[in-house]
Amino acid sequence: MQEITITINGKAVTAEVDERTLLLEFIRDVAGYTGTHNGCLEARCGCCAVEVDGDIVKSCNVLALQVAGRSVTTIEGLSPQRLTPVEHITTQSLAGVYEPLDALGADEKTLHPIQAAFHRRHALQCGFCTPGMIMVLKDYLEDNPEPTRADVRQAICGNLCRCTGYQHIIDAAMEAAEEMRLQAAMADATADGGDG
Ligand code: FES
Ligand code: FES
Repeated sequence: MQEITITINGKAVTAEVDERTLLLEFIRDVAGYTGTHNGCLEARCGCCAVEVDGDIVKSCNVLALQVAGRSVTTIEGLSPQRLTPVEHITTQSLAGVYEPLDALGADEKTLHPIQAAFHRRHALQCGFCTPGMIMVLKDYLEDNPEPTRADVRQAICGNLCRCTGYQHIIDAAMEAAEEMRLQAAMADATADGGDG
């Protein structure tokens, strides 16, 4: 066993792990961020995708020891709706860790553009694949702001969805890309104004 610290969504998490502990297990079982899903444990489904220092990885395919001292972003890091990690999962405890969107103040309704587009375009059914889809799309769209539908299809080729048939996911990604371009242009304009 070895003690390591991984920063997850900006918070340092320290725990003892053994050489076989997966990053996925550290995120879910140690840190309590259960939005990162275990769909296969074989690097096939993409449900467990997270960012490590800004690069997307399948967390079932990485050892926690390999990520010691680094920063991880999970789906919970994209929006303030998720309030606290889950320590013991029951229906009741889950109800207590999510703040209903309706209960949030206007300033707090800051879903990531991809999350908001998934919501608007009905890009999920059971939702099991959704955290991985959104993390992969976030990583892709930040680097490729003007994709075609074929580009998006290629970007999510490592993410399996059993429910949706993918069309609404691609619709949402295209809509989110437009919103992200708009936000980037506004940020640039603000920065230019500040420089002047
Ligand atoms: S659980 Fe990691 S790719 Fe399926
Ligand atoms: S929404 Fe069910 S697996 Fe994708």
